Amino acid sequence: TRVALIFGGQSSEHSISCLTAAGVFKAIDPQRFDVVGVGISRSGRWTQVPLDVVGGYRIVDGVAPEVAEPQCDAVWMVGEDGCEVATRDGATLVDIHGVDVAFSLLHGPFGEDGTIQGLFEMMGIRYVGSGVTASAIGMDKHFMKVAFEAAGLPVGPYAVATAHRLTHDRAAVIAEVSALGYPLFVKPARGGSSIGISRVTDASELDAAIAEAQKYDAKLVFEKGFVGARELECAVLGNPDAPLGCDASVIGEIRVRAADGFYDYEAKYFDEDGAALDAPANIDDALAGTLQDMAKRAFAAVDAEGLVRADFFVGEDGVFVNEVNTMPGFTPISMFPTLLQVGGMRYPELVGRLIELALE
Ligand code: DAL
Ligand code: MG
Repeated sequence: TRVALIFGGQSSEHSISCLTAAGVFKAIDPQRFDVVGVGISRSGRWTQVPLDVVGGYRIVDGVAPEVAEPQCDAVWMVGEDGCEVATRDGATLVDIHGVDVAFSLLHGPFGEDGTIQGLFEMMGIRYVGSGVTASAIGMDKHFMKVAFEAAGLPVGPYAVATAHRLTHDRAAVIAEVSALGYPLFVKPARGGSSIGISRVTDASELDAAIAEAQKYDAKLVFEKGFVGARELECAVLGNPDAPLGCDASVIGEIRVRAADGFYDYEAKYFDEDGAALDAPANIDDALAGTLQDMAKRAFAAVDAEGLVRADFFVGEDGVFVNEVNTMPGFTPISMFPTLLQVGGMRYPELVGRLIELALE
């Protein structure tokens, strides 16, 4: 089976995608799969990457590797008679004809959001994970909440503001946002890894937080911060035979060490002491069962396929679904593979299973 692992990408999570790719490259079984590495540079150019380069990537002193900008317009030829794809600069051509499965390890916009999935659909290539719609919904923290609410899942208090409203109706937006109470989180609607997110403790900090988030997306989502709530996560793996199309893993907990409890970018990837992952979480069976059930319903609510990681807040205010990620981080310290390993599925097996699901 010929597999294209696609990583890097144009989003702010480029480096995280490279780390994810490193984990998957190391784990993929060369006896079973014939692997081709396709890097997408920050400017969106596609280039073939030798596997030993990617396999050597690791988190070193907080520096994540990148896909180098190709020196020339790299053309990746696999098939004899394949179709060519022009990327947005119109110059770089990539041919992924002859590949059985595309495994996009891209996080964030232009990868996790349905765009590359649409490209695979157009080209008739099978791919790992969610389709166009689920990917797009899972990338948009606004529409994801709408889908969860429609499915009867508990969603925390939030507000949404488009760029237009922030410019022309700002006072109303600020009033709506302040009504959520403080602390609250200001987030780009379509982002990931906490990039562009600020924790705001009073109204005087709002303008700066809005400006920061708008560097990443014109549309913003504001969420009530649950002080003291626990951050619990569940890995969900697709299973076409299961009632909701998936199975849920054991529950894991993120224990953030920062006093404000904000699981930010540093704590996620680079600060060894920033957060501890407990897998399984120290919670009772009833709560674990509730969260597993909600994780599967969240998977179904966005119409996901293959895999998601579902994130929850659990505290005095109740249990809330925060989000699902349709391409969760796979770095050596990531929750998604860890949860499945605790459940008895080794990392290489997991990678193989995801590819099998794409072929089913
Ligand atoms: N967006 C990051 C990669 C995650 O959800 O794990
Ligand atoms: Mg999250």
